[in-house]
Amino acid sequence: MEAISIGLLGLGTVGSGVVKIIENHQDKLMHQVGCPIKVKKILVKDLNKERAVKIDNEKLTTDPDEILYDPEIDVIIEVMGGMKETKNYMIKALRNRKHIVTANKDLMAVHGSELLTIASENECDLFYEASVAGGIPILRSLVDGLASDRITKMMGIVNGTTNFILTKMSKHGSAYEEVLKEAQVLGYAEADPTSDVEGLDAARKMTILATLGFSMKIELDDVKVEGITRITEEDLRYGRQLGYTMKLIGIAHREGEKVDVSVQPTLLADTHPLASVQDEFNAVYVYGEAVGETMFYGPGAGSLPTATAVVSDLVGVMKNMRLGVTGKNSVTPQYKKQLKEPSE
Ligand code: NDP
Ligand code: HSE
Repeated sequence: MEAISIGLLGLGTVGSGVVKIIENHQDKLMHQVGCPIKVKKILVKDLNKERAVKIDNEKLTTDPDEILYDPEIDVIIEVMGGMKETKNYMIKALRNRKHIVTANKDLMAVHGSELLTIASENECDLFYEASVAGGIPILRSLVDGLASDRITKMMGIVNGTTNFILTKMSKHGSAYEEVLKEAQVLGYAEADPTSDVEGLDAARKMTILATLGFSMKIELDDVKVEGITRITEEDLRYGRQLGYTMKLIGIAHREGEKVDVSVQPTLLADTHPLASVQDEFNAVYVYGEAVGETMFYGPGAGSLPTATAVVSDLVGVMKNMRLGVTGKNSVTPQYKKQLKEPSE
């Protein structure tokens, strides 16, 4: 049985987790996809850096073309982050008929529609489950599990770093700067954590959730955003005394064709289900007209949880390859045709 070769762009927090899962779960993966999976080449910035996984140095490269143009590589896993350069790599890869799995919400929130169209035109899969809420399979749940319902509201904690910071500040009285550093060491924070603490990361995720949940083209610029940088230990203490917990909450609401999406720090009564979501965990509440209330909960950041979503997407791509239906999967809707513009 011939192994399928994949290329990895990035070997940091998420990339290392991907390598570990592919190695440690090889039996389960073989059972799922019917052949071994081989990581052939990995793009990194620094060839001499110490890695969280043992890796044959010959697999590392600083030349993206060794992956993007390798005829033996069928699937590329993009876990390097970034925008312009990464988008160019993805477009080159898709035009070269390579399927892509990405964890990149920055790109998918802004250029998702364009990239998905290019993927579809080239009969390629472009899956991005890991881009929202780490290990929680929320995108598939919206697109497949709740496909028959009309979703009118989504609300949740979708950034692990800020939830970790607020939890530690609130429960242990830890200082903001100190906990932010801890979140960086644990690999929860973005390369530039400003996007976490200013709420932009959560806004990007809410844009993706609202686009898929409401089947509408939602623009990141239309999301109202406030982060947690102005929250003080005192705010948290007063809240606690009154029976409230501070959380960074994303809300997406739809009424007819009108959509409202926002991210802001919110005081929740301690009895509210989202108030008990601690540390780097995320939770997303989804209301559908028929199903009513549903709630999705799990680790929202970190190496193995996020890599689980990435490698599960890889399994999805490989199953589609075997069936000959790549580029037609429901997580890659024919965007231009299906998405409506929300009204003012
Ligand atoms: P890291 O910073 O830990 O890793 C990034 C990796 O990409 C590194 O190996 C780095 O190389 C490589 N890299 C970055 N830029 C370049 C470049 N220009 N050329 C070559 N290699 C490059 O990031 P994460 O693993 O934390 O995140 C990766 C992606 O996953 C991001 O899009 C992030 O938003 C997303 N994500 C992260 C989650 C998390 O919990 N960390 C959860 C969900 C999504 P080198 O090692 O040599 O420096
Ligand atoms: N920085 C992000 C977070 C990573 O803290 O939620 C997961 O997307």
